[in-house]
Amino acid sequence: MSLSPVLPDGWTLVALDSVGSTNDEAARLAEAGASEGTIVWAREQTGGRGRRGRNWASPPGNLYSSTILRPACDAARATELGFVAALAVADVVPAGRKVRVKWPNDVMVDGGKVAGILLESSIAQGGLVEHVIAGIGVNVSIAPQLPEMRYPGAALGGSVGTALELLAQSLARRLSEWRHDGFGAVREAWLAKAGPLGADVDVRLGEELVSGCFAGLDREGALLLDTAAGRRRIVSGELLGRAA
Ligand code: BTN
Repeated sequence: MSLSPVLPDGWTLVALDSVGSTNDEAARLAEAGASEGTIVWAREQTGGRGRRGRNWASPPGNLYSSTILRPACDAARATELGFVAALAVADVVPAGRKVRVKWPNDVMVDGGKVAGILLESSIAQGGLVEHVIAGIGVNVSIAPQLPEMRYPGAALGGSVGTALELLAQSLARRLSEWRHDGFGAVREAWLAKAGPLGADVDVRLGEELVSGCFAGLDREGALLLDTAAGRRRIVSGELLGRAA
């Protein structure tokens, strides 16, 4: 591929025309020893994967990238990187568009989902993270509709190459903040871009739908939800449209 974005110092790009999933290719490279900041980017994916076992439609025209991270932290902290990645995506949304992050790590623009993040980790014996693959799909020119969701898709506009370059730069910057300032700083930045505290939301937990008021994030990144039966701490699920 002819794309040659300017990447952060020490980062490298593996550019592919077509691949099943960039996450799988990045995991293969990570197992073979590729360093942090190796980005696998593909013009299209034939088997793009989303969270919760969903497909991620991946025709040419949008950005499909997977970045190898080596955070050297305990497995329990790997999920923090999803919030780091969501902030990095939010940073590349052009001024004048309304950007919000939505738990756990979606990015919404003008009320539609513009990006999704799929984190996949490899954990060593003893519980240290060997690597995390931060798979990020950004709608650049096509906004696929998501029938299982309550909100539409949205697209960023511009070119895939520009989106990739800006995303790599902001991901490196947000990672550095995470390393130096810790998850507390990331959490504050994320909350500043999230829907308002107290907003009515629904959260899908498998087959169960729980309604309540958005009460923020705890120190581990779990969603806090005030329900009629009291406060719930939710570690895995999907916050639906009403807070977007
Ligand atoms: C979601 O369900 O919201 C997460 C979508 C993640 C899609 C990206 S595209 C690049 C990377 N490769 C994949 O197969 N999935 C992620």
